[in-house]
Amino acid sequence: MEKMWLLFANCLMIWVLLWGDSVEGLGVNWGTQANHKLPPNTVVKLLKDNGIQKVKLFDADESTLGALSGSNIEVMVAIPNGELDAMQDYKRAKKWVELNVTRYNFKGGVNIKYVAVGNEPFLKSYNGTFEKTTLPALKNIQNALNEAGVGDYVKATVPLNADVYESPEGNPLPSAGRFRPDVGALMTEMVGFMSQNNAPFTVNIYPFLSLYGNPGFPVDYAFFDGGATPIADNGIQYTNVFDANFDTLVSALKAAGFGNLPIIVGEVGWPTNGDVNANINNAVRFYRGLLPRITAKTGTPLRPGNIEMYLFGLLDEDAKTVAPGNFERHWGIFRYDGQPKFPMDLSGQNRDVYLVGAKDVQYLENQWCEINPNAKDTSKLTENVEYACTFADCTALGYGSSCHGLDSNGNVSYAFNSYFQTQNQNLEACNFQGLARLTLRNISTDTCNFTIQIKSSALRNAVSVAFSFITALVCLFFGV
Ligand SMILES: *[C@@H]1O[C@H](CO)[C@@H](O)[C@H](O)[C@H]1NC(C)=O
Ligand SMILES: *[C@@H]1O[C@H](CO)[C@@H](O)[C@H](O)[C@H]1NC(C)=O
Ligand SMILES: *[C@@H]1O[C@H](CO)[C@@H](O)[C@H](O)[C@H]1NC(C)=O
Ligand SMILES: *[C@@H]1O[C@H](CO)[C@@H](O)[C@H](O)[C@H]1NC(C)=O
Ligand SMILES: *[C@@H]1O[C@H](CO)[C@@H](O)[C@H](O)[C@H]1NC(C)=O
Repeated sequence: MEKMWLLFANCLMIWVLLWGDSVEGLGVNWGTQANHKLPPNTVVKLLKDNGIQKVKLFDADESTLGALSGSNIEVMVAIPNGELDAMQDYKRAKKWVELNVTRYNFKGGVNIKYVAVGNEPFLKSYNGTFEKTTLPALKNIQNALNEAGVGDYVKATVPLNADVYESPEGNPLPSAGRFRPDVGALMTEMVGFMSQNNAPFTVNIYPFLSLYGNPGFPVDYAFFDGGATPIADNGIQYTNVFDANFDTLVSALKAAGFGNLPIIVGEVGWPTNGDVNANINNAVRFYRGLLPRITAKTGTPLRPGNIEMYLFGLLDEDAKTVAPGNFERHWGIFRYDGQPKFPMDLSGQNRDVYLVGAKDVQYLENQWCEINPNAKDTSKLTENVEYACTFADCTALGYGSSCHGLDSNGNVSYAFNSYFQTQNQNLEACNFQGLARLTLRNISTDTCNFTIQIKSSALRNAVSVAFSFITALVCLFFGV
């Protein structure tokens, strides 16, 4: 009898271990605004190797969806803001659904679960540009999904920034949450439509941005480890801004008459560079608080239980706009090359483990571009650095960032190298009017990486096309 129990316990343990390989509520955002992109197949392997079962995209790119085919990973495809206007036309919306959703709906196809209609379209800084088009686009897309017969399991949603709701200034408590007055009526109609279709509300919540944007914000309140003075609200003690923010939304939904609408967190994460608060230590602290809550299905005081969340983001993207701040290019849980940046335990046990890095990544040669110390005329140095930093990523040089400690020559070399790598190490890209030179010496420092770029998919394709072409020529020549 005892042996039976042992066997049973063993089986249970193995089952738990296998189960632990994937994390139920956890997804990631896969953005692709990088100068050199990892091949989509490499990224899909990366997701699988780490047990990540859900991915949120910002478009419906064919090569991405091709790589996701047969993976069974749950996918949120997206319609960018720029295409919302076109979706006013129901025929166009139908066509879109046909080309980007139902086309992949077969055994061994893509497991599409959601269509994101726009991305944070009501952001205050857009000045209302997408206010007229978003809801009609949402309706057309969901109706087209319904008409195509997939509406039961593919839901249209609109990822919204947390700035669509707020608490009034006089009563800054989560329970007082309401939709922003200028979009209030619109939001109420929108959540009504979502509710009718059993579609979830999607919100992006960024404790980092609360800290970044509000001088005097209590640092500990951005994290989950309880150092902050709690905020009391109707007998609830809020100890972190994530819960408070999420519950402000729950209250806003309730006030609009849809208190039970499911909520997905479309983006949540912490950047590792580009600001004094954007660093590895803070990112580790944030995720060590967040991940156990996801696996334990902790939820928030007003919504205990499982909350589906998508980390932002998967990879660093060195071609994103820096309008929000220099940190914008450093949100990845992986570096630009798919290698992990810091210890992270997706199973929520906070073991000191690293994620599995991308396999078979191909890098350019081990060579860097640096300032030429023998250059006679340095009067054009500044404009050359500016040129380099306009077309390549220099965000690691700013105040509070990993390369801020470099001396002025180091600064120049960093900019030159970044540009040189972005240009696929084209030798002409390491000239800068004679101010630059090539070096085989790794000029990185302890804190600042002078990176070697990866071979981008396009370049690899070009190389392999050229190779097949040459091979064909050689074969022709020798008559084989
Ligand atoms: C939808 O699919 C078409 C055909 O593959 C493609 O041209 C278009 O870019 C896709 N839309 C998005 C937003 O990716
Ligand atoms: C919104 O308005 C502000 C101030 O008028 C302006 O600076 C900004 O460029 C506008 N943004 C857009 C997306 O139109
Ligand atoms: C290096 O560049 C950064 C960003 O452009 C600047 O803030 C810093 O002052 C520069 N440092 C030196 C020593 O020139
Ligand atoms: C260059 O040196 C840095 C710092 O020692 C190291 O982390 C990095 O891996 C090196 N890069 C290459 C391509 O060897
Ligand atoms: C620099 O890159 C290497 C990998 O090439 C990595 O191991 C190291 O942690 C990085 N260092 C910094 C300061 O980012």
